Amino acid sequence: MTGDRVRFDAHVRMDAGPCYQQAASAQFSGRFRRVRRLGARSRQGRGVRAAWYDRQGPSSVLEVGELPTPEPGEGEVRVRLTRSGINPGDTKKREARFIGMAYPRVIPHSDGAGVIDAVGSGADTARVGRRAWVHGAQSYRPFGTAAEYVVVPEALAVDLPDRVSDELGASLGIPGITAHRAVFQDGSVAGLTVLVQGVRGGVSSLAAQLATWGGATVIGSVRHPSTGDLPGVAALVALDDDPAAAIRRIAPDGVARIVEVAFDANIDLDAAVIANLGTITAFATGADRPEFPFWPMLFQNTTIHLIGSDDFPPEAKAHAAADLTAAAEAGALSAPVAAVYPLDRIAEAHDAVDSGSVHGRVLLDLGA
Ligand SMILES: NC(=O)c1ccc[n+]([C@@H]2O[C@H](COP(=O)([O-])OP(=O)(O)OC[C@H]3O[C@@H](n4cnc5c(N)ncnc54)[C@H](OP(=O)(O)O)[C@@H]3O)[C@@H](O)[C@H]2O)c1
Repeated sequence: MTGDRVRFDAHVRMDAGPCYQQAASAQFSGRFRRVRRLGARSRQGRGVRAAWYDRQGPSSVLEVGELPTPEPGEGEVRVRLTRSGINPGDTKKREARFIGMAYPRVIPHSDGAGVIDAVGSGADTARVGRRAWVHGAQSYRPFGTAAEYVVVPEALAVDLPDRVSDELGASLGIPGITAHRAVFQDGSVAGLTVLVQGVRGGVSSLAAQLATWGGATVIGSVRHPSTGDLPGVAALVALDDDPAAAIRRIAPDGVARIVEVAFDANIDLDAAVIANLGTITAFATGADRPEFPFWPMLFQNTTIHLIGSDDFPPEAKAHAAADLTAAAEAGALSAPVAAVYPLDRIAEAHDAVDSGSVHGRVLLDLGA
């Protein structure tokens, strides 16, 4: 991040304009006197350091400065964040890849970890002071985790077990919940063989680990032969070296489930190795309008799921959050951290995610 791409203005948002106030009132509607806080000291009137954008575009639209401290409303908690997790979906929203500017101002990122420091009326006061991992903070909500504090509905701040790091906690949201649904949407995978395509990726790596945790045998694929730790993977195949034959050698009757990161590129292979009545669950594609081999897949009675995590049913997200927490506490999940950036280098962090060449999580360090 070069200096000209970051604007730090300690005063600019204390007199935030009407657009911000409008958005703020939508999210931070709680009445101050009903909020329970960690310690006696109130944050009222003090600002928080945050990053935001008021228009979509390249990473240079990101600004860094100070905003009013959010207050939790009814059923909400406030989390003092230590880490914010960045996902490709966050940078796509910023770039207007799929949707326009849904709010006048957006604090990006849905994932994070930290400590609950205040709760609104109706939320569990016993949670004040407890560690939590956060998901969905910027899903149908304007203000995400690229800030020292975030306010979310209580269910979106999940208790973080003592043995699980903030870094892993901040890596469980979008990738973990997507991976969970990709693996378990059709029920248990115990005893099944699951193919996870692109298994070095953020979602795919967690999918492989969750499937193994759930009792499956996981075949992982990579575009090129690679070394390094691939947790949860029982057998690795290279996509550039006759992968169908390699998979059939491991699973002669085909694989029961496929978790797919590149539907367009891999669907012929998927069709060649799926078992009868098997399921392919795709969470991404390269080409927008991919072709697929209809008749072979029909004769195999293949089910295709296309999944978008923003709109999973709430109960599916809650189920995923509970399983992810349990698996992490059991030591069954890991997420390598590629880079941790300070908040004022958020644009550099977004560029790193967009580069596609970073393997591992990209996080923001929010102090505390
Ligand atoms: N639908 C949803 O709800 C949802 C949720 C999360 C993410 N996503 C989307 O899913 C995609 C991946 O997200 P991520 O967080 O996992 O990203 P990531 O950590 O950057 O991983 C992407 C992985 O995909 C692999 N890959 C790319 N093209 C491939 C191909 N043709 N065959 C096999 N592997 C391929 C890459 O392999 P290499 O190691 O060879 O580069 C890389 O390991 C992004 O487009 C993201 O926006 C969707």
